[in-house]
Amino acid sequence: MKPAGLYSGGTYRESESAMSTTPYVLGIDLGTGGIRVLLVNQDDGDINHVTTSQYPSDAPRPGWSEQNPEDWWTACCQAIRRLFDDRPDLKAEQIHAIGISGQMHGLVALDDQDMVLRPAILWNDQRTSEQCDEIHRRLGTDRIIAITGKPVMTSFTAPKILWMQQHEEPLYRSMRHALLPKDYLLLRLSGTYSTDASDASGTSLLDLQRRDWSEELLQSLEIPIEVLPTVSESQEIVAAISSMASHETGLRTGTPIVAGAGDQAAGGVGCGIADDSIVSINLGTSGVVFSGRRTPPHDPSGALHGYCHAVHETWHVMGVMLSAGGSLKWYRDTFEPDRTFDEIIANASDARPGCGGLRFLPYLSGERTPHAAPNARGSFTGISSDHDRSQFARSVLEGVLFGLKDNLELIRAGQPDIEHVRFTGGGSRNKAWRQMAADIFNTPVATVNVADGSAYGAALLAMTGSGRFRDVAEAMTSFVGTLDTLHPTSAAEQYATIHEEWQSLYGILEPTYTG
Ligand code: XUL
Repeated sequence: MKPAGLYSGGTYRESESAMSTTPYVLGIDLGTGGIRVLLVNQDDGDINHVTTSQYPSDAPRPGWSEQNPEDWWTACCQAIRRLFDDRPDLKAEQIHAIGISGQMHGLVALDDQDMVLRPAILWNDQRTSEQCDEIHRRLGTDRIIAITGKPVMTSFTAPKILWMQQHEEPLYRSMRHALLPKDYLLLRLSGTYSTDASDASGTSLLDLQRRDWSEELLQSLEIPIEVLPTVSESQEIVAAISSMASHETGLRTGTPIVAGAGDQAAGGVGCGIADDSIVSINLGTSGVVFSGRRTPPHDPSGALHGYCHAVHETWHVMGVMLSAGGSLKWYRDTFEPDRTFDEIIANASDARPGCGGLRFLPYLSGERTPHAAPNARGSFTGISSDHDRSQFARSVLEGVLFGLKDNLELIRAGQPDIEHVRFTGGGSRNKAWRQMAADIFNTPVATVNVADGSAYGAALLAMTGSGRFRDVAEAMTSFVGTLDTLHPTSAAEQYATIHEEWQSLYGILEPTYTG
C-alpha cells in the first residue's frame, strides 16, 4: 500500500524518470465549471500531470442552468492535447485505459444524427418542480422511492425529459438519444452509447435493485427505452477511442474506455469509500455526505437518497446540501470582500462556540436533503447588539456544519458504527474549520491523500478495467489513504445541545421564498 504523497508542497509531483514504458491511465472529470484530465501512473498511483479547460454556463431564465455539450467536447480535446504538449515524453501508447466521471443528472438530447437538439439542462436547473409533482402523482411517492431509492427532485433527469415532452414537443419527438453529460463525452470519444449504474441511478429512471432501467417508470412517463444507453458497471470496458477522436485528441485509436461514474460515486472511489464504516463529506460549493452500502438502500421517508455505487454490486447513500462552502463564499463576498477565507476563519475562531446565540441557516440556494425544499431560504437569527463580525462569521461556519451533521445523522441512524469522516473539498483545507467539524459531528475527521477525488476515482476505475487491479476495492486500498486526523474536543458536548436548538429553527422560521 502506498497511501500518501500524491501532492507534495501543493504541487503535483512530476514523475522522476518518465520512461517510455511507464503505464498510465487518464482520469477525466467533466465538472460544471470545467474539465480536468489527470495522467495517473498505474504502478504507483501518482498523479503525474493535470490539465484543465473551462466552459461557460448559461441561465436564459431565472432558475434555469444550461451548457452547450459542444463546449464540453472542445474543452476535452483541448485538455488532452495540452497534456501531450506539456509532456512531450508521453506516448499515446502508454495510456492503457481511460475513465470518465461527470456532473450528474443533466439531460443531453440528441437526434438520429447525434446532433444536440437543445442546450444540456444541468443538475442545478430548477425549472421542473411541476414535472416532479406530476411524476409523484402518476406513480405514487412510495413506489418511486421503492424503485429509485429517493423522491424525484428538480435536479434529476426524468423530470427534464418530461419538461421537454410538455414544453418542446417537436424537439422531443426528434429525440433519439437521451444521455448524461459524461456519456455524451464517451459518445464523442468512441461512437458508443453507454452509461454506468451510478450515473444512471441519478436519473429517477433506474431500478436501484436491478441496476437497470425500470420499465414501470419508463412506461408511466411514456419514454421509449430505446432512447436510453445500455447500463454497465463502472469498471467495465465499454468502448474504445475512435479514429476520429484519435485525430482530435492525440489519443491512440482503440484505447479502452471504462463505463466511468457520476462525479459523486467516482469521488467516493477517489476517497476510498467502499462500505458503511467510513463516511466522506465533500465541502465544496455544495456539501455532499456519502457512505457505501452492501444492499440497496431504502429510506421510506425519502430524506436519505440511495444510489448505485461505482464499486461493483454495491450502493451508496448520499445527502446533498446545496449551499455549504457557497454560504461562506456568499458571506465573504457580501460582508468581508477584502479578506481571504483563511482570514475570515481565523477571525471567527476568536468567537466562542455557539456565537452567543447567533444562528445561521444555510439554505441560500434552497435545499435538497434532509429538507427537500428548493424554495427554502437562509437566515441569521438571535442577533443582539453585542454581536460582532467574528461571531457572524463563526455562525456561518457552524450553520454549514450543522446542516452537514443533519445529513450525517441520517446516515448514522442506519449505521451507528462510523469510524471516521473523510473530509474533502476546498472547505476541508482549513484546520480550524476541520476541528469545528470534528466537534460538531462528534466524530474523528481525517483528510485524504487524494485531491482530485472524482477524476482520481475515474482513474482508479480505468486501472481496474485495464486489469491492474482485481476489483475497485483493491484499487482503493492500494492508493487511497488518510493523512491527518482530528478528534473531537470538549466542545463536542456543547455543540450537541446547540445543534438540537438550531434544528428547531427550521420549523419555526419556515424560511421559504414564495415571491
Ligand atoms: C449530485 C449533484 C452534483 C452534480 C454536479 O447529486 O447534483 O454533485 O453531480 O457536480
